[in-house]
Parts: sequence; C-alpha cells; structure tokens
Amino acid sequence: MQKILNISEKRILKKKTLSSLKNIFKSIPTKYLYDEKGSKLFEDICNTKEYYLTRVEEKLLKKYSLEIVKLSQPEDIFEFGSGSSKKSVLLISARIKNFTQLSYSSLDISDKALNMSFDEIKKVNKSIKINLFKGDFLNDLNKIYLVKKPRLFLFLGSTLGNFDDKLAIDFLGNLRKVMNKKDYLLLGLDMVKDVNIITAAYNDSKGITRKFNKNILSVINKKYQLNFKKNNFEHKAEFNSDKSQVEMFLKSKIKHNIEFSDNSNIQIEAGERILTEISRKFSFTIIEKLLEKSGLKIERKFQDNKKFYSLLLIRTT
Ligand code: SAH
Ligand code: AVI
Repeated sequence: MQKILNISEKRILKKKTLSSLKNIFKSIPTKYLYDEKGSKLFEDICNTKEYYLTRVEEKLLKKYSLEIVKLSQPEDIFEFGSGSSKKSVLLISARIKNFTQLSYSSLDISDKALNMSFDEIKKVNKSIKINLFKGDFLNDLNKIYLVKKPRLFLFLGSTLGNFDDKLAIDFLGNLRKVMNKKDYLLLGLDMVKDVNIITAAYNDSKGITRKFNKNILSVINKKYQLNFKKNNFEHKAEFNSDKSQVEMFLKSKIKHNIEFSDNSNIQIEAGERILTEISRKFSFTIIEKLLEKSGLKIERKFQDNKKFYSLLLIRTT
C-alpha cells in the first residue's frame, strides 16, 4: 500500500460546518459525503442505470484519450478528486505507450478514494510513480508541488458542478496559478439536457443515491459528536431550472433538536431541508464565462453525439 501524504488545513473546518447548520438555509459541506462508505457508495452510483455521467465520460475517454495525450504530451498527470481513477487509467495507458517516465498524483479528501486509485493505476502499470495527497482541493491547492515538466491536470466526473460560481472561480483561479504555459487541464462537465434524465440520475431506483446522501449524517455525527438520526430525514434531489442545477437535500420528517458539543443546539422543523450538494449542468456560455474570469481558455472540445457531456482541454490565456 502506498503512503498517503496528508496536506490538509484543518483549523477552520469545525466552525464553518457548524455555522452552516445554524443558518436559516441549512447546509452541510459536500465533501462530507466522502468517507470510506461514501466513496464506495459513489462507485455504486456510477454503475446505476440512471447515472449516465460516468458512462458517457468513459466513452469519450475511450475515444479521445490518445488524441488528448498527443496534444498535451504530459510527463506528469495530476488529478483532483480522482475517486477510484477508473477512467483516468485510460489516459495513463494511452500516454505510457510512448512515454515511460510518466508520474501520476491524486489529491482527494478520502483515504478510500486514494487507495482505490493506487490499486487501479498499479493494475495498468507497475512502475509508474504515484503520489497520493489527502487534502481539500478548495483549501490546499497552494500546497501543490510545482514541476517544470509538462503537466496534464484532470478534473473529471463534473465535480466542478458541485461548486457555485464563487467556488468555481476560486478553484480555477488557484489552479491557474500553478499552471505553466505548457500545462493543460482536462475538465469533464455534465451538460444541460432533458430534466427527466437529469433528475432520474439523482433518484436511482435502487436507492443508492439516497444512502449516499444520508451517509453524510454519519460522517458529521462522528466528526463533530452530533446526534443526527438518518430515519428523521428523507432524500430529495430536484432540478432548479433557474440555476441549472440539481439540488440534493435531506428533508426532515419531524420537528427535532440537534445538540452540539458546546451545549448549543438547533431546532429543525418538520419539512425543513438541509442542502448537501449542488450539481450544476453546464452550457458553453456558463463555462466560458467561468474560465475567462479564471485566466483560462478552451483549446479543444470533445462531446458525445447527444451532447450530454463535454471533455474540455484547457490552457492558460
Ligand atoms: N473523478 C471521479 C470521482 C468523482 S466523485 C469520477 O469522475 O468518478 C468526487 C471525488 O472528489 C471523490 O473522490 C471525493 O472524495 C473527492 N472530493 C470531494 N470533495 C473534495 C474536496 N473538497 N477536496 C478533495 N477531494 C474532494
Ligand atoms: C462527484 N459529483 C460530480 C457527483 C454529482 O453528480 O454531482 C456526486 C453525486 N451526487 C449524487 N450522485 C452523484
């Protein structure tokens, strides 16, 4: 097993998490979806018939990986929120055929994801150098080591869709600061489409997304000694067409209290919702605006026939 290097900055997290629960519009930071169990459940979501994102992105990578590595010629691949890296290995395999010194790094918040990633990459190539960084891609980007060799950054799975405008521009702007002229970013994005297809993807018939959503309560209970009970909540995922995003909530079935370790408490009303995730569905107008504000530009676009999904190869302006 590969050693994981912890680069996370922990100081402000507790205060932020607890205050997001004390707001009128309650929320829990999305990253808490991903502990050991959450990371496994996410892999199961990717295999549901309704969650098309993974399948379409994988198909695009199968078709275009060779072209992408020919254009970007990476000597190092650095991935944010890799999960299991099952799709990333397509790019690694394509590149390793004619460049054997390739190194790969993953920065992810979840040990489980980092370990899955390591196993998946070792299956493809035993000698590739792998770095595993445990950290928060929204707080820890400044800790990324800089290299002179050409790098391909990966941000797949439409994870950028989990950020509102401010977070997206912060993230892309921080990434821009560590990108050299020869570096590329490969960004995978879910595009806006028929609302029924989108909402079904977040309400799968096997109830895996429901378990994934509710698991966030176990994570913060353990982390912050809280007493949330999963049975008091139901899973809700709805498309907000004004914002072009799926909003995933936990909706309280009853009025009840949650106590904090400092003896303060919050009351949750029956029907009250706690936001756990947004998942934006993009258009080129939206993404080009975000990139422009971050000092980045699209060099190549790869899309499937139905235009469900886009892989964007991006450079600095
Ligand atoms: N890229 C993969 C996984 C997407 S799931 C795919 O396309 O299938 C999102 C991944 O980002 C998970 O592995 C999760 O652990 C990680 N993640 C979520 N929030 C994070 C954060 N704030 N910092 C670092 N990693 C995070
Ligand atoms: C990782 N992220 C882009 C997924 C999404 O679609 O927003 C997480 C997810 N949430 C529910 N299902 C999958």
